[in-house]
Amino acid sequence: MRGKLQPIEIGIDGEGRIARIAKSIRGGVREDLGDRVLIPAATDLHVHLREPSTGPRVESFRSGTEAAALGGVTAVADMPNTEPPIDRPARVREKQDRARGELAVDLILYAAVGPQTAIESLGAVAGAFKLYLSPTTGIEQPPEEGSVPSLLARVAATGLSLTVHAEEPLAFRTVTKLDSPIAWDAHRPIEAEQRAIAGLLPGPPGLRLHIAHVSAPAVANSVRGSGHSFEVTPQHLLLAARRDDSARFKVNPPLRPPAIRAGLWDEFRAGRVPVLSSDHAPHPALVKDQEFARAPSGMPGVETTLPLLLEKVREGELGLDVLQSAACDRPARWLGLSHGRLAVGERANLLAVDFRRHRPIQAARLRTACGWSAFEGWEAVFPERHYRDGQLIVADGEFVGARNGVVVRPDYARA
Ligand code: DOR
Ligand code: ZN
Repeated sequence: MRGKLQPIEIGIDGEGRIARIAKSIRGGVREDLGDRVLIPAATDLHVHLREPSTGPRVESFRSGTEAAALGGVTAVADMPNTEPPIDRPARVREKQDRARGELAVDLILYAAVGPQTAIESLGAVAGAFKLYLSPTTGIEQPPEEGSVPSLLARVAATGLSLTVHAEEPLAFRTVTKLDSPIAWDAHRPIEAEQRAIAGLLPGPPGLRLHIAHVSAPAVANSVRGSGHSFEVTPQHLLLAARRDDSARFKVNPPLRPPAIRAGLWDEFRAGRVPVLSSDHAPHPALVKDQEFARAPSGMPGVETTLPLLLEKVREGELGLDVLQSAACDRPARWLGLSHGRLAVGERANLLAVDFRRHRPIQAARLRTACGWSAFEGWEAVFPERHYRDGQLIVADGEFVGARNGVVVRPDYARA
């Protein structure tokens, strides 16, 4: 509470909302969490659960949202670069149908912004918009530069938020041997992010703009200066580009050199980064374990993002208040969801964390269906219990809840 740890009791009403927070509350069914730390569950603004997909099935709504629950995440926003992409209202509805009865946590559906997109009618059914300015998984042809300002204005008029994958392909450099994360960084340099962002800002009035996976402090500074929102991922915070690493470490935007990574970490610990997201991209191991130049970009993360950062709190390298703001509070506010804070009226979507217990990440024990992690062997603090609307959904590393998550839209969305 108020950035400090204190002994408290939380009263939860019949609807699963926080009704009272006090030193001691009388009556009701009681549960004693001992000296575990109670924090709000996280919201992940950036996951790829790959439904629908025409390729070999890796992740699904079921496995991906259970992985989220185990990682302490109570709502995930799912990206639209699927096969086919989510770029018309019928595809949003189809995705809603697929999700019914499958969701361990709540789901927000992104719609893709492209030259042919029916932005206005999508605004009435989707939860948020996503714009890719460069080619990446599932996106071959980004919109032409000249068309971007009018696309932004049309999105602004819907009232929904817009997340942008900001890399400018004209700033990509030719590298003869694309054989390692170092070469990938040289090919898609930080300037590509800077140029993409310079082209977007300031943006039309009223646009809720969020820049995805900012990889360098200089980029963070540019976005912050404009007053818009942005996120960083644990991979850009914790992993630097290394010559010997395989395509499992290939991501867009690329991992950066050690000094840049360290600078981004300093920004994050200082509380100067609004949002932490995973960019959970569960590519099958077989597809990642091919020649670097041919392998797709992205790595899984929804299950390990909060646990990796809770470990940094355990080690004394990060303030719990900073982590809670970036992982729980601000992403929920961004999407107009009523959880993410220990406050009366919020949904009781809560985590019980025991900072005395940590264990190395083992991909074989993760619920995500892709079976590998770039953080294999890294110490992590997994939440022991996860409550949703006051009901236990994760206990001691097992999902014990119902699949009653729902597709939600922001409270500021127009009907
Ligand atoms: O590394 C990435 N993987 N970056 C993206 O922009 C897309 C994502 C994916 O869908 O695999
Ligand atoms: Zn992504």
